[in-house]
Amino acid sequence: MAARGEFSSKMAFVLAASGSAIGLGNIWGFPIKVASNGGGAFVFTYIVLTFLLAYPILMAELVIGRYAKADTVRSMLAVSSPKTRWLAMITGGWGMLTASLILSFYAIVAGWMIAHGAGSALDLVGISSAWLTSDSTTRSLVFAAVFFVLTISIIANGVASGIEKWSSRLMPMLIFLIVALIIYITTLEGAAEGWKVYLQPDFSKVTEPGLVLDALSQAFFSLSLGVGTMMVYGSYISKSENLPRLGATVAAMDIGIAVLAGMLVIPAMYVAQFNGVIIYDESGKLIESGRLIFNVLPSLFEVMGSAGIITSLVFFLLMSIAALTSSISMLEVPVAFASDSLNATRKKASWMVGGLIFALSVVIIYNMNPLFDMVVNFATQFSEPMVGILFCLFVGWIWQRNAILNELKQGNPELERSLFWRIWPNYVRFVCPAIVLFLLIRSFGLVNF
Ligand code: TRP
Repeated sequence: MAARGEFSSKMAFVLAASGSAIGLGNIWGFPIKVASNGGGAFVFTYIVLTFLLAYPILMAELVIGRYAKADTVRSMLAVSSPKTRWLAMITGGWGMLTASLILSFYAIVAGWMIAHGAGSALDLVGISSAWLTSDSTTRSLVFAAVFFVLTISIIANGVASGIEKWSSRLMPMLIFLIVALIIYITTLEGAAEGWKVYLQPDFSKVTEPGLVLDALSQAFFSLSLGVGTMMVYGSYISKSENLPRLGATVAAMDIGIAVLAGMLVIPAMYVAQFNGVIIYDESGKLIESGRLIFNVLPSLFEVMGSAGIITSLVFFLLMSIAALTSSISMLEVPVAFASDSLNATRKKASWMVGGLIFALSVVIIYNMNPLFDMVVNFATQFSEPMVGILFCLFVGWIWQRNAILNELKQGNPELERSLFWRIWPNYVRFVCPAIVLFLLIRSFGLVNF
């Protein structure tokens, strides 16, 4: 077997794992959920839940991965007992399948982002870009293919010269672009209204179960949990690092960028409204989220004239970067399996697995209705929570508590006396599976509120 890769530093891991966590979920999903769920009240609930629910599961993934130093299937086997080997294989395999399914639809959306970005670039030089910014099967195919080539090329280069190198380049760029856009949008008329909505929490909404559960699933998706992405990234962390602290840093980064994205997208929506673009329908509900990104914001950019073209270019560049650092983490899950367990070379594994998932995207593109929504819902509402519960079961019930303690103590000798160790094990054992199960039952419509 070829030598396994490892992140060269703490910072490299934090950037790569934050790159995975920070994606379309933060910049697109989060602000829209905030706008339709009582503004600051949602932000508050989301932050609390990320630390109470998502962070403990993130830690479960990281600790399994770093202990086993292997792909998800072999990692799960390493923490299983003779009687639970079958369940370990199912869990690892299911996670891998889920990562592939998420990538298959994520890449289509990411392709649209690149197309819009390319459209603005053409506008800038005065060439008509209508084909790039209007919906068509060919456009989806071409740009999903472009996005796959980017994702596969990075993954094919391995941990240090692929994932780490590109995350370290793209993440600072992402933060810079987002801050620059916030500053610019804030100077426009109408933005103040958006800031008000964002900052003034309507706390009466916090008690609505719909809000709480929306925030829970957002936290889950946003931290890339329940597919083994964080487990594989964990397997590339050196034994000398303090895991609970690294995990907390990633969770904080993820929250931080989501909150920043809210400062960008929500004021931008209100600037659009100020300019006559409709953002709430007749019943007072926020319009559907796809239209917000691909229609509302572009119509805002249009009324802004030439400043709008540049803003649009920067905005879609930002989206594409966010999507790319997330998609590489999804592809890494099956590629790690192919190269660790099946002994394929990394290059070959990346192009083969990436090609297969692209084929899946092609099938979806030709059958957008109903396949797109089906794949999104199956992967994110059912599979991710299920696999997340299984991870918790292994850490909470199957894996020896002593082995977990020893693993966590590496890089953190004081662990036993920490607040983390006093709370986390029982949390993963009881609280997380119970809450996630509840979420799952609700998403099946078995309970209705
Ligand atoms: N967290 C990313 C986002 O917010 C998406 C993502 C990346 C993801 N890797 C994942 C989601 C693995 C689920 C599982 O956009």
